[in-house]
Amino acid sequence: MSHHIVEFQDVHFRYPDGTAALNGISLRITHGESVGIVGANGSGKSTLLMHMNGYLMPQGGAITIGDFQLNKKTRPEVRKKVGLIFQNPDEQLFMPTVFDDVAFGPLNLGLSRDRVGDQVTAALKTVGCLHLKDKPPHHLSGGQKSAVAVAAVIAMQPDILVMDEPASHLDPKSRRALINLLRHFHHTKIIASHDLDLILDTCGRCIIIKEGKVVADGKSGDVLSDSQLLEENNLELPLSLQQRAVSTGGPMDEIAKLHHLLEHWAEHNTEHAKTYQDWSKKAETLGRPELAKLLNTIADETLATDARFREALELCR
Ligand SMILES: Nc1ncnc2c1ncn2[C@@H]1O[C@H](COP(=O)(O)OP(=O)(O)O)[C@@H](O)[C@H]1O
Ligand SMILES: [Mg+2]
Repeated sequence: MSHHIVEFQDVHFRYPDGTAALNGISLRITHGESVGIVGANGSGKSTLLMHMNGYLMPQGGAITIGDFQLNKKTRPEVRKKVGLIFQNPDEQLFMPTVFDDVAFGPLNLGLSRDRVGDQVTAALKTVGCLHLKDKPPHHLSGGQKSAVAVAAVIAMQPDILVMDEPASHLDPKSRRALINLLRHFHHTKIIASHDLDLILDTCGRCIIIKEGKVVADGKSGDVLSDSQLLEENNLELPLSLQQRAVSTGGPMDEIAKLHHLLEHWAEHNTEHAKTYQDWSKKAETLGRPELAKLLNTIADETLATDARFREALELCR
């Protein structure tokens, strides 16, 4: 699993009308990372993402996905690894029913009908849309369509999930549901978005691109709280950080940043505890009671620190 990297080396791409969209972009993303790609309109985010599964092919430089250098011959293999979700779910959903749409990719991979059925059911369950399986996709709401588009990609069990502006059609509730879903996807994920709060919530690392090149790359908490850097790239501080800056009555300070980080840590803490509990149950069924007990203790101790996080948040006020 350690070799699910995405690497761009000096990649160039120009559209047929002469627009240079990627101008020597280089980046390296390793297994399990969650990376936000941000930048002004037209900075090249979508073009970059469309190179990740060979929907567009580089005209200069090299792209490596896992063990393969991307070229026409390796493209089918690359597509098995990388699930690309387009900005507009309508571009992705075209079958008579939701079930058929989600089954389309796995069937194309040549999996048996039984296996496909299982994977489709699991993927629809993950996005909370199993009850919609017999509906025609064009009868769904925007949020439901986005969730089904995610399921269609998850059903192919990609190692790397790539999403372009996933929240742009969503109402606040669907957006929150999507954020939770993304946080539970533990493989590599790469998300381009204008929604810097979404990036802050789902991605540990953030890359800013400008005119088809990387101009900043670092921890999301650092990159997205750098107002000057954001301004230079026609971006604004995430709302959650802006509100904090207003409520402290002064410019964004380190305490505001800490407050935001604490909120994240607290949220992840609860998630981690749940994971330990799940594994404790698994260990029990695997006949490893000692391990199960220990994991349960770890879960309890993790949950106990929730109260500490709340105290620390109070102290930041
Ligand atoms: N199909 C296309 N033909 C010509 N130019 C395009 C096409 N798609 C995008 N571009 C241009 O390529 C540049 C990068 O676009 P894009 O990757 O869509 O940026 P972003 O997703 O960051 O808004 C922009 O200048 C845009 O106008
Ligand atoms: Mg775009």
